Amino acid sequence: MADGFFLTFEGLDGSGKSTQLRKLATHLQALGLGVTVTRQPGGTRIGDRIRGLLLDSKTDHLAPQAELGLMFSDRAECIAEVIAPALHGGNVVLCDRFTDSTEAYQGGGRQLGSEIVLQMHRTMCGGLQPDLTLLLLADFDQSLRRARRRNDRNATAEHDEARFEREDEAFHRRVYDKYREIAAREPDRVVVIEGDQTIEAIHRQISTLVDEKLRAAGLLPTASFTPGEKQMPENPDKARFTP
Ligand SMILES: Nc1ncnc2c1ncn2[C@@H]1O[C@H](COP(=O)(O)OP(=O)(O)OP(=O)(O)O)[C@@H](O)[C@H]1O
Ligand SMILES: [Mg+2]
Repeated sequence: MADGFFLTFEGLDGSGKSTQLRKLATHLQALGLGVTVTRQPGGTRIGDRIRGLLLDSKTDHLAPQAELGLMFSDRAECIAEVIAPALHGGNVVLCDRFTDSTEAYQGGGRQLGSEIVLQMHRTMCGGLQPDLTLLLLADFDQSLRRARRRNDRNATAEHDEARFEREDEAFHRRVYDKYREIAAREPDRVVVIEGDQTIEAIHRQISTLVDEKLRAAGLLPTASFTPGEKQMPENPDKARFTP
């Protein structure tokens, strides 16, 4: 779709997506790149309202198909308002969850299957695919423990995002298995990052990989770069790099 670069973070609740996304955004901004950060559900005003409905554990009686529709309504809005304009402007877009989450949670967890999710993606998202997806797979039990601790810390009467996390272990296993299936199906796009390392070690691995991809895409210069030195990128037409 664009001159920018679209990167998504995926993984179970508590796998470290938001932590790593924030660190990568800081790293890329320090390299002089335009960075747009967003999340799903959410990321727009209407999306934040949809997020409230979907994640609040007080929401009950939501049919799986209705849940799926809301996820894609949110996504279509986020693409129209945030992602597409940012990519057209040449930015690196970092998105916390995207269609792989829907395939894993609604397709796998809720057992709606992959096909309906992929069909809706084609229809409602114009088939927009990430240039790169980082799938954080930490130890299964540890992810859930971390997410629960974090939600307990952040929970208030008005702010409760524990609806999915309260699902049983079998649900989360199906999510986990579906993520593995997606990674095996699309190895060129999806890179599995072992989450059982320190936050810093994972960040180093991610930033090295992303720098390499951005150089290949012409968004970063190929030669080694010392901050403060002016260097022209190899492909000035595609370059969005301003030292
Ligand atoms: N590699 C790590 N080692 C130890 N703790 C970590 C690691 N990565 C993240 N954490 C901690 O685990 C908790 C969950 O991390 P984070 O919020 O980034 O996960 P998430 O994938 O965004 O979860 P969710 O899907 O629920 O939003 C946070 O308290 C975070 O500080
Ligand atoms: Mg998060």
